[in-house]
Amino acid sequence: MQINLYEKNINKIDAFFELKIIQKSEKLSTKFIETLEKINFFKDSYNIHLDYESKILYISCLDFKSENIKMAIFKTINFLKNKKIETIKLNINQNGLELKIKDIVEGLMLGSYTFDRYKNSKNILNINEIKISIKSSSKSKEKLEDELNKTLLLTQGVNYTRDIVNTPPFEFVPKSFSQKALELTKNKNIKCKVFGEEYLLKNGMNAMFSVGKASVNESQLVHLSYKAKEAKAKIVIVGKGVTYDTGGLSLKRGDGMVSMKCDKAGASAILGIFDVLSKYNLPLEVHGIIGAVENMIGGDAYKPDDVLIAKNGKSIEVTNTDAEGRLVLADCLCYAQDEIKDIDYIFDLATLTGASIMAFGGYTHAIMGYNDKLKSKIQKASMKSGELVGFLPFNQFLEKKLKSEVADMINTSSNKNGGAITAALFLSKFIKEENKNKWLHFDLAGPSYRQEEWDCNPYGATGAGVRLVFRFMEKVSNS
Ligand code: BES
Ligand code: ZN
Ligand code: ZN
Repeated sequence: MQINLYEKNINKIDAFFELKIIQKSEKLSTKFIETLEKINFFKDSYNIHLDYESKILYISCLDFKSENIKMAIFKTINFLKNKKIETIKLNINQNGLELKIKDIVEGLMLGSYTFDRYKNSKNILNINEIKISIKSSSKSKEKLEDELNKTLLLTQGVNYTRDIVNTPPFEFVPKSFSQKALELTKNKNIKCKVFGEEYLLKNGMNAMFSVGKASVNESQLVHLSYKAKEAKAKIVIVGKGVTYDTGGLSLKRGDGMVSMKCDKAGASAILGIFDVLSKYNLPLEVHGIIGAVENMIGGDAYKPDDVLIAKNGKSIEVTNTDAEGRLVLADCLCYAQDEIKDIDYIFDLATLTGASIMAFGGYTHAIMGYNDKLKSKIQKASMKSGELVGFLPFNQFLEKKLKSEVADMINTSSNKNGGAITAALFLSKFIKEENKNKWLHFDLAGPSYRQEEWDCNPYGATGAGVRLVFRFMEKVSNS
């Protein structure tokens, strides 16, 4: 599907249909309003009316906010599936308001995504070109082209991440992360180092190693890096890449295990961000660390009661093998801080806890850390990206819940309350003092995968984190 900008009047552009996003307003003729009212068109947003005579496709949108425009485009593209319509045009000005190219492109690209590799009957989108008339835009063609190109690459990165997360666990194993990362090095700005279990053992990464021990698929530690010539900041992103989470010996219940292919969403977002960086240059140095493991059961599985020594020498009493993500991240965070000096920002992205879903309802990233200024920067990136964020506070009382009688800490608090916070506090034990204010933890267990369609997301993986972190990086690049 091509998206092209035309400096022509909309009437001079050839297409099967014109898309008009409309609100009830005095600009429309009363007769036309009456016709649409008969079919309850203006009762709510996203009702579609196709007028074959004038070749116009109308969609209702009661409020012209960015999120609603994206949704209107998303609904339109879904409506067009399986229809023999190949081209569609729209004016950048709708209802007297100038739309943002970013919103149009996000709606189109995120809305047209499907994961139908395993389906015999597929939905077909016959659209091959979307033509946007920019004749009446207040912005220059170059500026609009740049916005178009950037959003295209960003949304392709989101869809690339969605594909990885949606891929079933028999097909996507820890080594698949290494393969994907190595593919990204086709771009000469991107370098990649891959390590296996021997490296983990030699370098004291016993926490991460233990989680993957029972799997027939070898664990992988992946270190991607992107260096622009004149980097304004050094950003490290660490991702949980549990390609399948059975819970280990503290086995999950049958229905709780379904969808645990999503436990690689944090690491998949890291790959998505690097996919964008490989095509869209930002003046930054970015490191992506992926801890890829499969949490399985077996004769050599790690056990509740085991004591694991992490890379920084801290000992961990295992009380639940289903709290495996924090063990993987503990070692990956240590690796990142040992290998990379003078870090400006260090973020970890992980589907870490069901408790984060309980806290915010499932559509919001649960973000935690010590630096309020940094949190407000993320809040701004959230507005630009359209991804929702919420912040959970630390306190010393919850921290005490990690106390162990036999080791430096336990991996799960005996009390389930505040589970997202205790998980983040556990991670904080692996953040060096000098990096405490540079670190944020993103628990994306909720927004990265939903068994329902929501916002511009179809059923399944959403690619959460890619737009949010990219918009943050973009802001750092421009400041
Ligand atoms: N991968 C899960 C968290 C998760 C839950 C991700 C729902 C996506 C959707 C994680 O490894 C886990 O199992 N966490 C436990 C922690 C508990 C044992 C302290 C949880 O949330 O129940
Ligand atoms: Zn788990
Ligand atoms: Zn997990």
